[in-house]
Amino acid sequence: MPRIELVTGDITAEHVDVIVNAANSSLMGGGGVDGAIHRAGGPTILEECRMLRATTFRAGLPTGEAVATGAGRLAARWIVHTVGPVWPGPGPEADERRLLLAAAYRNSIGVAAGLGAASVAFPAISAGIYGWPADDAAAVALAAAAETAEPPALVRFVLFSARMHDEFRRVAERLGVEVA
Ligand code: APR
Repeated sequence: MPRIELVTGDITAEHVDVIVNAANSSLMGGGGVDGAIHRAGGPTILEECRMLRATTFRAGLPTGEAVATGAGRLAARWIVHTVGPVWPGPGPEADERRLLLAAAYRNSIGVAAGLGAASVAFPAISAGIYGWPADDAAAVALAAAAETAEPPALVRFVLFSARMHDEFRRVAERLGVEVA
């Protein structure tokens, strides 16, 4: 199990091997974290995403999958782009999509491990524009980090508000996941 950290801040300022982007399937950028990473990282990230769309992911990156590019001007070695599910409202559809949210974390860690990354920074995937309830998004994120057997030694959740940080800390306590 990696060391799991919770911090409040802007993920584009993180000095880690991998910064994970909460992208959309187009890989062509957007708002939220996606917009921040492309703005701060510069045009090379989008250029590599265009190459991915022209080759490996011609139909776009499916929800729950993950793919790496360089990090441009950011203080990371790679960006791992992943696509979280949109919150459908409570019910069986949410249960289905929750598995995709867990896959987004698990696959991002797997891609980072494949690159030899020792440290990975995550945003709260799907908990912004995609509307996933904060407590449930936190539970999926923390469980995925706690359950991974992959080598990255550090998984850091970079939360954009004190409220989201508090939510993650409360859920970690409830789940018995040790966080720094
Ligand atoms: N650093 C860290 N966290 C951030 C940052 C940032 N710079 N900017 C936003 N966040 C937080 C949001 O407050 C939210 O808690 O990241 C979490 C995820 O929010 P979004 O970025 O909106 O991502 P998501 O909910 O997964 O929606 C993805 O939004 O940006 C578009 O192109 C993206 O269409 C995709 C959709």
